[in-house]
Amino acid sequence: MAARDAGPIRLAASILDSNLANLAQAVRRCVRAGADRIHLDVMDGHFVPNLTFGPRTIRALRSVTDLPFDAHLMIANPARFVDEFVAAGCDSITIHVEIEEPVGPVLERIRAAGRLAGLAVKPRTPLAALEPYRHLLDVVMVMTVEPGFGGQQLMRAVAREKLPVAARYLAADSAEGAVHVDGGVNRETAELVGRLGAEVLVVGSALFQRSRAMAEEIARIKALAEQGRATARAAAPGSPKTVLVGAEGG
Ligand code: DX5
Ligand code: ZN
Repeated sequence: MAARDAGPIRLAASILDSNLANLAQAVRRCVRAGADRIHLDVMDGHFVPNLTFGPRTIRALRSVTDLPFDAHLMIANPARFVDEFVAAGCDSITIHVEIEEPVGPVLERIRAAGRLAGLAVKPRTPLAALEPYRHLLDVVMVMTVEPGFGGQQLMRAVAREKLPVAARYLAADSAEGAVHVDGGVNRETAELVGRLGAEVLVVGSALFQRSRAMAEEIARIKALAEQGRATARAAAPGSPKTVLVGAEGG
């Protein structure tokens, strides 16, 4: 069993549920509040029943911060648009494994452009669907809600089943490979996803829809996730500094 140093747990702020009339301000708020990355949910009204924004909006936001931009493309035809997301300044581009067009060539193009390539899996899609692409994956994004909308509840059974084994689908040559968990992460669920092995927490509505200070919310969610990770490490044999790749259970 290989061991991989996962580094500290990071938080990617999703601006999906921010005030869409002022996205630049939303990004600035996330930066000031201590987010580690910005998660950008792109929807086409076809792969998911909702519409958001595209590469031109992301390009416009690029000047607001140097924080990494993670594009989460919930679109049916990423091959047609991927170069635009690269040009817009996305640091990682994650597409869905369930789409009907071939995903391998798109992942290859993302990596050839020097960006991190990722695959997201919907709750009902088995992780094994990633198997043919594992040599290409810098991001494995485990969706714990049905994609399309913020503010849903995390599906705990999905988190328990997939998060502990998701890292085994990351490319061995990926310097920055990470398991992202997307959907329903908040104060109530952060400890669980940290315990199960999530490395990047995508957090949307918990940051924007509550009457709580965003900085406090980010610090709290990250601390709870780290607490969960520490609990899991204390219970597991082996080095406390590493996560066990391929470890079962959780
Ligand atoms: C849902 C998106 C998520 C969403 C997360 O389709 O992929 O990134 O913004 O929002 P919360 O944190 O509210 O579940
Ligand atoms: Zn997302």
